[in-house]
Amino acid sequence: MFTKLRNRISRVRLKWRPAMRYPGIMEAETRIDIARIASMSDAELERLNALLPWAAFVNDAEGRCFGRAYSSRKRNEPQAVPDRRILELDRRFGLAGKRVLEAGCFEGIHTVGLMQQKASVSAFDGRIENVVKTLVRAWAFGQKPDVFLWNLEEDGEPPFDIGCDILHHVGVLYHLTDPIGHLAQVLPRVREAIMLDTHIARAGEGQTGKSAGFEYRYCNFREAGRAPPFAGLGDHAKWVELDDLRRFLVQAGFANVDVAEQRDERNGLRVLIFAHR
Ligand SMILES: C[S@@+](CC[C@H](N)C(=O)[O-])C[C@H]1O[C@@H](n2cnc3c(N)ncnc32)[C@H](O)[C@@H]1O
Repeated sequence: MFTKLRNRISRVRLKWRPAMRYPGIMEAETRIDIARIASMSDAELERLNALLPWAAFVNDAEGRCFGRAYSSRKRNEPQAVPDRRILELDRRFGLAGKRVLEAGCFEGIHTVGLMQQKASVSAFDGRIENVVKTLVRAWAFGQKPDVFLWNLEEDGEPPFDIGCDILHHVGVLYHLTDPIGHLAQVLPRVREAIMLDTHIARAGEGQTGKSAGFEYRYCNFREAGRAPPFAGLGDHAKWVELDDLRRFLVQAGFANVDVAEQRDERNGLRVLIFAHR
């Protein structure tokens, strides 16, 4: 049973405008020096922006958009690099010299943020267009992550070594049909810590399920299909209740679980968790 229809987002894509500026939303701190964009003419940058199905953007030092907004309501502001959560991850565990596995790299904005903190990053995404956009974004920033196409729910064993010091897992768990099964696969390969940002089910509203021998409470949500660049790749997803998620992390060896944020967002409850062995 689907308990709620998610992602009531506008499908109306913003028309690309040659001026490459979204009025009123440029903040000084989101203007970024992007090595290979800085030397690009407006015309070449427009070509690059039209070349790929971008659904998020950053601003270069001159306030020009690299990428584009998904819609008038979603990813319609320039993203900061590095993201504030990456700065917090770095403060807690120190990213320099660490091997980071990034789940669901989307368009590489977090990938380059992690690499700016001197981590070496292996990233994956189940959508080939997201793999390509991540590679192009990283190229623009002068970074060289290892990026893989892997639909973690369909493709069986990963086509690369997912062993890492730190797992960066933002915005992906709540898109999976078997979130616990996925964590059971990946967590044993994480040596030190994880940052997990995910929607969770409201306590008491869910049903009981079992995966990897672990009983937990969850709610079902419909997924939007292959076309939207953010969605899960199955027909539905399970959102896990927080207590069970915490219990599973501890059971997987991450004894120190800090729920650093709980946010009541438009689409539902969301948490930011840092956990380490
Ligand atoms: C909501 S976006 C989050 C993107 C990024 N981590 C962020 O926080 O901006 C979810 C990402 O996970 C990817 N994804 C969803 N289901 C996946 C799966 N089964 N295997 C691999 N990637 C998946 C999507 O393609 C998308 O890039």
